[in-house]
Amino acid sequence: MSSSYSKASNGGEQQQEQLVCVTGAGGFIGSWVVKELLLRGYRVRGTARDPEDSKNAHLLALEGARERLTLCRADVLDYDSLRAAFTGCHGVLHVASPMSNDPELVPVAVEGTRNVINAAADGGVRRAVFTSSYGAVHMDPNRSPDTVLDETCWSDYDFCEQTNNLYCCAKMMAEVTATEEAARRGLPLAVVVPCITTGPMLQQALNFSSNLAARYLMGTKRSYTNAVAAYVDVRDVARAHVLAYERPEARGRYLCIAAVLHRAQLIAMLRELFPQYPVTAKCEDDGKPMAKPYKFSNQRARELGLEFTPLKKSLYEAVVCMQQKGHLPVITQQQRSYL
Ligand SMILES: NC(=O)c1ccc[n+]([C@@H]2O[C@H](COP(=O)([O-])OP(=O)(O)OC[C@H]3O[C@@H](n4cnc5c(N)ncnc54)[C@H](OP(=O)(O)O)[C@@H]3O)[C@@H](O)[C@H]2O)c1
Repeated sequence: MSSSYSKASNGGEQQQEQLVCVTGAGGFIGSWVVKELLLRGYRVRGTARDPEDSKNAHLLALEGARERLTLCRADVLDYDSLRAAFTGCHGVLHVASPMSNDPELVPVAVEGTRNVINAAADGGVRRAVFTSSYGAVHMDPNRSPDTVLDETCWSDYDFCEQTNNLYCCAKMMAEVTATEEAARRGLPLAVVVPCITTGPMLQQALNFSSNLAARYLMGTKRSYTNAVAAYVDVRDVARAHVLAYERPEARGRYLCIAAVLHRAQLIAMLRELFPQYPVTAKCEDDGKPMAKPYKFSNQRARELGLEFTPLKKSLYEAVVCMQQKGHLPVITQQQRSYL
């Protein structure tokens, strides 16, 4: 371990002795957060609703896991399970949340977050990081196209509700809950705000955001949406969590955006990187004006020390990983016509 990692910057405690809990440890982002913490020498406790499920087995194979990782059963809707999971922890990184528009899952995001912050405060946790989403930031049809998207921006809640983007509603409410509860309980909190997250998966199952590229590569999507979106690499998101945790002065939101692209540009990148796949070249809104990319600022995250991975590299590695894990067929140019 490099000497710069051997001392914690928060609390003066030896970093190797610090125990940090990651909720949703087996998910796409959670797994990379666990890996990053282990690489930096922390003792890590990961929560999962079923730690024995084979879907979490990849965690135990991570470097340092045998010596410094334990998995613990916890459901964010069960305060007592969280209180037990956080016992003895210096920090809690609250990543767990369903990636879903199902109205029945909104309480998992909101009440789950309330439980996490309170269980952390009750358990004497010294610092917390909450994973929000740019779904809580960018969804505002009335924002001027010249506005620079940054940490001051919030989505329009009513617009999200009317357009059935309940995931965005849930993340907005969960972030407000995390911030208010942490302030009320005197728990220092930083908020990491990832956008569409791509890059290689550590877990076996295909997660929601990785499936976006997979659906284009498989030809499942016959046309692409006339929309603009922001992208970031999963390893950068994980590093942002750890950097925000390690900086004692880090507070408030940290927007993690590497690039903003029209879907046509994402498609062009996929077609250039993987010409052997039947990626559609048709826009669903053919003939209509194209949605305009917006400006954004990732300055706060860069000030934490974060460097962003180029999207092309991230997408390339995501696709190779999906091939290796059997989610995408490895096809040659000649085979393409048979798909
Ligand atoms: N991926 C993206 O593009 C993206 C973008 C912005 C923000 N985010 C945020 O990043 C976080 C992780 O997303 P992800 O992409 O890693 O999703 P993921 O792979 O689907 O992981 C979600 C995690 O949430 C856990 N979870 C769900 N319901 C739970 C409950 N009731 N109690 C405890 N844990 C529960 C799951 O744990 P189990 O093993 O117990 O099922 C799983 O580990 C979420 O907060 C999401 O909103 C993701």
